[in-house]
Amino acid sequence: MAGGWSKYTDKVDKYCPKNYEPLPVVLEKGEGVFVWDTNGGKYIDMLSAYSALSHGHRHPDILKAMSDQCEKLTLTSRAFHNNIMGDFLEKLCNLTGFEKAMPMNTGAEAVETAMKAIRKWAYDVKGVPENKARIIAAANNFHGRTSGAISMSSKAASTTGFGPLLPCIDIVPFDDARALEAAIRPETAGFIVEPIQGEGGVIVPSDDYFPAVREICDRNNVLLCIDEIQTGLARTGRMFCFEHYGIRPDMLTLGKALGGGVYPVSAMCADDEVMDVFTAGTHGSTFGGNPLAAAVGIASLDVIEHENLAGRAAELGDYFIGRLSGFADSSIKEIRGKGLLIGMEFKVPKAHEFALKLLKRGLLAKDTNAATIRFAPPLIIDKNTLDEAIAIIANVLKN
Ligand SMILES: Cc1ncc(COP(=O)(O)O)c(C=O)c1O
Repeated sequence: MAGGWSKYTDKVDKYCPKNYEPLPVVLEKGEGVFVWDTNGGKYIDMLSAYSALSHGHRHPDILKAMSDQCEKLTLTSRAFHNNIMGDFLEKLCNLTGFEKAMPMNTGAEAVETAMKAIRKWAYDVKGVPENKARIIAAANNFHGRTSGAISMSSKAASTTGFGPLLPCIDIVPFDDARALEAAIRPETAGFIVEPIQGEGGVIVPSDDYFPAVREICDRNNVLLCIDEIQTGLARTGRMFCFEHYGIRPDMLTLGKALGGGVYPVSAMCADDEVMDVFTAGTHGSTFGGNPLAAAVGIASLDVIEHENLAGRAAELGDYFIGRLSGFADSSIKEIRGKGLLIGMEFKVPKAHEFALKLLKRGLLAKDTNAATIRFAPPLIIDKNTLDEAIAIIANVLKN
């Protein structure tokens, strides 16, 4: 690889399975909105680890909370109590408005937790006959890479060769409330859905979709679980994306930005009626709710609130979409998104090639499908840096 990078990438090629196709750059340093490669080349990070770096790289308050906690206690497992997990969950519950939160680590685990809760609620509360509970998911979703999460996937690359998948999953088109209603059977216990499909290409549903979904789930006694692992915690200009649609889910999955860009922290949030299905020994995680995760989680939520990241995302997102739309040429099919989660779709599948050109000019972004490139910078980005990014995008488009 160019840039003298083969000394790093050869080892990765040798020792790591080829389950990713990273862009050709080797990074060694990050601060705020910027990252540097091993040759000193500077880049604006316009992907922010798929929204996990909403606070920017190495936010000082989060690093301090982390290192202070490292001086005291990092891991207990849930075999014992620790003195900080309660504070973290209280903060998360106050913010989300749910009665309880189950602490986990990665996004996919939060989704697994939701799937298990839905099934157990089906038997314990709804009265579905044992082993018959059904879950509905939306086509073109992304909920993670575990066997449960991929069982809800409609993407062949995610599922082929990994069967048998979980049974009793029904997949309906996204943004189609009638299809959801038609798919509901007496055994249906939950509908798991993203409020904007991030990995699917930044697909924003019509305004009346989620109100209709809420009403259908209520009428059929089906739990509505919204996966805000990518969209949540200020990314779309509101603390949670579901606020845009004027509804509340019954269950919420969070991850990515909950870990402040430094540590994996996720959670599934719901009220007691759902959460009480979990009793001792029915679910858990060695690392879930560990003291370090709790300290990082508290600091991450504090920063989101104190720095008004939702307000910034709303204002700068509108500005960004406006500027992009201003210079979009005939090669662009659509520019869409909410807050600072923005997709630019080309008429032809050239998003990867576009990302490579942006990289050469000092901007990191990645194609989310063949024709769509996603821009999701850290929410701490300032207008000047955003203008710099916009100038690079305009320049690549022109050339
Ligand atoms: C909506 C959504 N759910 C779940 C996940 C999985 O999260 P993780 O990669 O932390 O397991 C992702 C990751 O991109 C996501 O975007």
